[in-house]
Amino acid sequence: MEVQLVLERDIRTKWFLEARYGMFIHWGLYAIPARGEWVRSNERISNEDYETYFEQFNPTRYQPKEWAKLAKAAGHQYVVMTTKHHDGFCLFDSQLTDYKAGNTKIGKDLIREYVDAFREVGIAIGFYYSIIDWHHEHYPAYGDRYHPMREHEAYKNKEVDFSRYIAYMHGQVEELVTNYGKIDIMWFDFSYDHMSGEKWQAEQLIQMIRSHQPDIIIDNRLGGNFMAAEPENYAGDFYSPEQIIPPGGVVDELGRPVPWEACLTLNNHWGYHASDNAYKSPRQIVRALVECVSKNGNMLLNVGPDAEGEIPKQSKEILSSVGDWLSRNSRSIYGCKAASLAKPEWGRYTQNGRFLYAHIFDRGIGPIYFQGLKGKIKRARLLADGSELRSGTMWMAEQYSDIEGGAFISLPGGDLPDELNTVIELELYEPL
Ligand code: GLC
Repeated sequence: MEVQLVLERDIRTKWFLEARYGMFIHWGLYAIPARGEWVRSNERISNEDYETYFEQFNPTRYQPKEWAKLAKAAGHQYVVMTTKHHDGFCLFDSQLTDYKAGNTKIGKDLIREYVDAFREVGIAIGFYYSIIDWHHEHYPAYGDRYHPMREHEAYKNKEVDFSRYIAYMHGQVEELVTNYGKIDIMWFDFSYDHMSGEKWQAEQLIQMIRSHQPDIIIDNRLGGNFMAAEPENYAGDFYSPEQIIPPGGVVDELGRPVPWEACLTLNNHWGYHASDNAYKSPRQIVRALVECVSKNGNMLLNVGPDAEGEIPKQSKEILSSVGDWLSRNSRSIYGCKAASLAKPEWGRYTQNGRFLYAHIFDRGIGPIYFQGLKGKIKRARLLADGSELRSGTMWMAEQYSDIEGGAFISLPGGDLPDELNTVIELELYEPL
């Protein structure tokens, strides 16, 4: 990628990096077995045996308007939903296959309703699309690393014409980027071994997508080397760490910060899992979001609706607590990025111009110390209620700030006012 293309990427991803917080939705036939979206591969289920879920699929409680309302209240700025996962089942109305929601009992294009509902509340629209396909007859099965039939002798000598799969996959992507209006994000998943980059005819795919949707942003999972000084065109617009927040954020091989988005589950599965109750707390989620932003990253948080079309109650409760926190503290997240200060002992910093946000995870004892900020703070307030905080009021504080070039700010007595995350807004005389 030439310098020009890196610049184009910066322009394309501007809104995305300001948005910071998105909702991921994994939904499909696998909600019925309810053992996660990898159930076909993990349990080596054949097409015939998996067919029962196609026959049963009838999510009559699917109300995407409710999902959109939930996402809006939760503070999500964009959403990415599975249009097809690895099992090959399409939630959208593809003319290229019969294996789609329109041919199940529910009998309609579930993606159309999703797009309309989220667009209506002003949330940017993303499509997850699996480039892996365990249902298509021309996707390699025997000997593949993940295919459910990878060890099944009957597949050993089966002829596979991979070019037919590529035509199918490109055709479906073209349907997605032409039939649903403006799409903001294309989220491909995923490359492995030699199934990567040009194996997917990725350059051609990208060109086709951009010819229809010039502003769309695309993740890095088609392959290529996203970290290279000059990445391939198809290496994508943002990097997608999964179930991890990179310790030092993400930089390319020249040390330049690059756009990235950590995707995380609320329990331990993406697709609905009936007995996985290992949910993270609202506090962990808020702090994970802060951590991403403090390192210049986004967070894409997953929900896995059940077979009836409902987002699990626990997920809704967590999202609503996080949304409640965000409604009072959004200025410290949206539009913010890393501050040029070392990670403080008590938590994290995020910054937006002259405003520095101190996310206090652990108040410790006594006034809070801000290294390097002596004489730079014009005003300090609690972000949640706007109440003023006084700096350097403690008689002992001054002597230490002189030594370390820092400033102290006292919080009201007791423990932290918000146990999820207490934010102090520091208005500086000038940006750091
Ligand atoms: C993966 C998994 C998958 C999930 C995704 C989310 O690589 O295969 O099931 O959709 O990542 O990041």
